[in-house]
Amino acid sequence: MKTVTLSTLQAYKQAGETFSCLTAYDASFAHAASQAGIDVLLVGDSLGMVLQGHNSTLPVTIDDIVYHTRCAARGKGHSLLMVDLPFMSNATTERLLEDAGAVMRAGAELVKLEGEAWMADGIRELTRRGVPVCAHLGLTPQTVHQLGGYKVQGRDAAQAERIINDAKVLVEAGASVILLECVPASLGKAVTEALDVPVIGIGAGPDTDGQILVMHDVLGVTHGRTPRFVKNFMVDADSIQTAFQHYHEAVKSRKFPAPEHCF
Ligand code: KIV
Ligand code: NA
Repeated sequence: MKTVTLSTLQAYKQAGETFSCLTAYDASFAHAASQAGIDVLLVGDSLGMVLQGHNSTLPVTIDDIVYHTRCAARGKGHSLLMVDLPFMSNATTERLLEDAGAVMRAGAELVKLEGEAWMADGIRELTRRGVPVCAHLGLTPQTVHQLGGYKVQGRDAAQAERIINDAKVLVEAGASVILLECVPASLGKAVTEALDVPVIGIGAGPDTDGQILVMHDVLGVTHGRTPRFVKNFMVDADSIQTAFQHYHEAVKSRKFPAPEHCF
């Protein structure tokens, strides 16, 4: 399979083709996902929940992220490896640069960070130094306590307008990709149309350029309440490899997400 780079994602957007993304935290699952054709693998700080058993992503450290990045990088194959910066990596510009440097040295090819328009300066500093950035907007799990829970964002017109504006500001600052979590499908579409860079969605409707899910949700091994936007692809699969393939094909053919997965 051809190596996926940022240019590949841009070409998908220009061609109006979707691309598939999935979290991966170790070499074996990264390899399986890559073999299934997944375009982008994310070492997400969701590892705090699905691997470590916490009820939020806040306890995840840069050392945790670096460790799992090293593991996933060894299995990533042709897929592009995106890596989350953890809670408080943005405490200072110096820390942001150090943490981004650590994940890039561990094998990251794209760094993802949560943050609104105020992250523009940090993104400018990173991209200047050759670190490509994906900016995560909408429901940002690192701010869960401020948001008052894991809730759909951008439901009212003013909030939606703010998210569109934040995305534009961050792209202007250098962000190469935008990720939108848990927003109405209409907002997912509006942001995707407003930007020249690829937009990845999770619970952001069918019209974003790419789709992402947490691997554990795709395999149906998440415990507790699962969000509306997830689909267990293990139900109709006889192996993990097949479940990943079905997810990949469902994204590529725009069969996933279906209306019941959207807000
Ligand atoms: O940490 C993560 O897995 C993520 C995705 C849900 C987008 O940020
Ligand atoms: Na994350």
